[in-house]
Amino acid sequence: MLKILVIGGGGREHALVWKLAQSQQVSKIFCAPGNAGIAQLAECVPLAITDSNGLLDFAIENGIDLTVVGPEIPLIAGIVDLFEQRGLRIFGPAREPAQLEGSKAYAKGLMLRYGIPTASFAAFTSPEAASYYLKSHFDAQPLAPLVVKADGEAAGKGVFICRTDAEAQEALRKIMSDRIFGASGDTVVVEEFLEGEEASLMAFTDGTTIIPMLAVQDHKRALDGDEGPNTGGMGCYAPVPLVTPEIYQQAVEQILRPVVEAIRESGIPYKGVLYAGIMIGKDGSLKTLEFNCRFGDPETQVVLPLLETDLVDILMGVTDAHLDEVEVRWKPQSAVCVVLASGGYPGAYATDLPIEGLEQVAHLSDVVAFHAGTKLGEDGQILTNGGRVLGVSAIGDDFTQARARAYAAVKSISFDHMHFRTDIGHRAE
Ligand code: AMP
Ligand code: GLY
Repeated sequence: MLKILVIGGGGREHALVWKLAQSQQVSKIFCAPGNAGIAQLAECVPLAITDSNGLLDFAIENGIDLTVVGPEIPLIAGIVDLFEQRGLRIFGPAREPAQLEGSKAYAKGLMLRYGIPTASFAAFTSPEAASYYLKSHFDAQPLAPLVVKADGEAAGKGVFICRTDAEAQEALRKIMSDRIFGASGDTVVVEEFLEGEEASLMAFTDGTTIIPMLAVQDHKRALDGDEGPNTGGMGCYAPVPLVTPEIYQQAVEQILRPVVEAIRESGIPYKGVLYAGIMIGKDGSLKTLEFNCRFGDPETQVVLPLLETDLVDILMGVTDAHLDEVEVRWKPQSAVCVVLASGGYPGAYATDLPIEGLEQVAHLSDVVAFHAGTKLGEDGQILTNGGRVLGVSAIGDDFTQARARAYAAVKSISFDHMHFRTDIGHRAE
């Protein structure tokens, strides 16, 4: 029997803990720092995700057999290297391969060298050179938008889609002069603007074997109709009809496999979840938007409810490099996750608001309310504690049934200024 430590405290980690708790091989789950929903399944430990040494000491002292890292920040900082140096089993890529998410310039350079399809780009460390490039582009092609990105980690907020030179110069100023993302903006990446449909394709890999998960479509904009500012994700569904078997195969063979092979050849193999954000053009062409070095959030909240296989078998197959021996099976169903966010998110929002109706949802079959930003109040009441508060996930025999179940459950839940999108999955119809 295994003792497992999950690092993180959002909806993704609740889904991980929820799935791990169903395994017959698990005796105890700890989660650092966890949240009010996770606390119903695991012992929450008040350690920050950035406290690598504290987490290492905890794992040693408590005889943890497997640590699973949710967020990218500890991975990019090298928590896997730290644990492995001490002989501890940990799920996630080492520091060097995690740079696929940690540095957009690194990821773009790798894609360029290995012929992996992506938007054309230029990277700059000099604001003057970047500014000149932007101006020249809009002088020559005033109708072709550009995407200006901070190179490093920016919590999904470091991307500006710019339709004019003035907008692009403003984005550049924010990133490089005002340094709103700090050192993440020391390098700026400028990309061609791609049009099409986005999808997320995640895969488990031990560095050699690749097992892709179901494709997911996440809705990143805050408002219905894909309007409003970008967020961490307002809801998603899987599988995605738009990702036909041919496109899925193409994404695995042209994107995921070459990246895993390139990284293995260049040094430390990539172990963990590799997440590719892809853009499917109107002509069916495929381009890579980004890589993440971890499970997506909220993507994990639809993928794990559809996973039939014991997650422990997969995670151990990855950490112990025998993923080829693991058979991964999916339920032949659909899942929809609707994110319930705090009013104002992704901008400023209030916290500590009481959440009503969670008990009703707990009784529903085929629905789980994953907690993202929640905490337990002093009187035992569950309170809001973040921008994204809950992810209400439902499964059904098809997309329509899953969506109906998810939205029926959403109706039972309320908190002041609760905001959610009413059109999750509108592109699946
Ligand atoms: P990233 O963090 O690089 O994935 O960017 C966040 C979001 O910005 C993506 O999910 C897309 O919606 C959008 N985006 C990023 N790069 C491009 C691009 N080259 N063309 C169009 N949209 C983009
Ligand atoms: N939902 C997007 C992400 O996890 O990065």
